[in-house]
Amino acid sequence: MISIKSPREIEKMRAAGRLTAQARALAGSLVRPGVTTLEIDREVRKFIESHGAKPSFLGYGGYPASVCASVNEVVIHGIPNHRKLEEGDIVSIDVGAYLDGFHGDCAATFPCGEVSDEARKLIEVTRQSFFEGIKFARVGQRVSDVGHAVQQYVESFGYGVVRDFVGHGVGSKMHEAPEVPNYGAAGHGARFQPGMVIAVEPMVCAGDWHVRVLGDRWTTVSADGSLTAHYENTILITDGEPEILTDPGEG
Ligand code: MF3
Ligand code: CO
Repeated sequence: MISIKSPREIEKMRAAGRLTAQARALAGSLVRPGVTTLEIDREVRKFIESHGAKPSFLGYGGYPASVCASVNEVVIHGIPNHRKLEEGDIVSIDVGAYLDGFHGDCAATFPCGEVSDEARKLIEVTRQSFFEGIKFARVGQRVSDVGHAVQQYVESFGYGVVRDFVGHGVGSKMHEAPEVPNYGAAGHGARFQPGMVIAVEPMVCAGDWHVRVLGDRWTTVSADGSLTAHYENTILITDGEPEILTDPGEG
C-alpha cells in the first residue's frame, strides 16, 4: 500500500526534507583534500541533532554512521572512515534526517578539488538522469516510467545504471512502498497520485552496471572498479510538476 500524505503531513515532510538537503549541502561544502569522511559524518550528525532531528541512517539495520560516504568505485553505503580524501576523488554523500515524525532522504556526488573530465561528466549525467526521470513522476504516469527514462538517459552515455538497489517511498518510515527502480520497461507499477512521496535515486557506474557488496556487508562497489555516482531527492507527487522536498532553498 502506498500512503497518501495529508496536507499536515506534507508540511512536516517539507521541513524534514529541507533540513536533509541542508545537511547534504553542509557535507558537500566539507569535501576537500585532507578531510576524512568521519569528520564529515561528525559535522552532519551535529547539524541534524542541533535542529531537533535524528540522523535517519544511524542504527538503521545496524548501520554505524549518519551519512553514507562513498568514494570513487564505491557507489553506495560507504561507511565513513579515517582515510583522507585526495584531490581527484569523487565523493557520494547520502543522508537522511528524521524530524517531527517524518524522514527526508537525499544524496549527491561531490568532486574533491580538481577532478577528471570523465568524473565531472559522470556526476553531471547522474544528476541530470534524476531530472529526466522525474519528468514522469506525475499523475497519468506509472512508477516504472521514471526508471525507464533514467535508464534511457544514462545508457545513452554508455554508462550502467545499478539494478540491485532502487528508490523507494518515504514517509514516517525511511523506506516505504513503492520500490522505484532506475531501469526497466515503461508502463508498469502503481499509478502516481497526488500526495505520494518517493525518493528517486539513480546510482550510476561509468562502466558496467553490476555491483558487489564487500565483506563489511555495506560497502557497495562497481564490480568492474569503474567510477560511480549517485543523486537522490525526496519528491512529492502533485497535480502538476513534482515538488522536490529535499531542496535546501535559501540555506
Ligand atoms: N539513502 C539510502 C536509501 O535510500 C540510505 C540507506 S543506507 C542506511 O536506502 F545506512 F541507512 F542503511
Ligand atoms: Co533513499
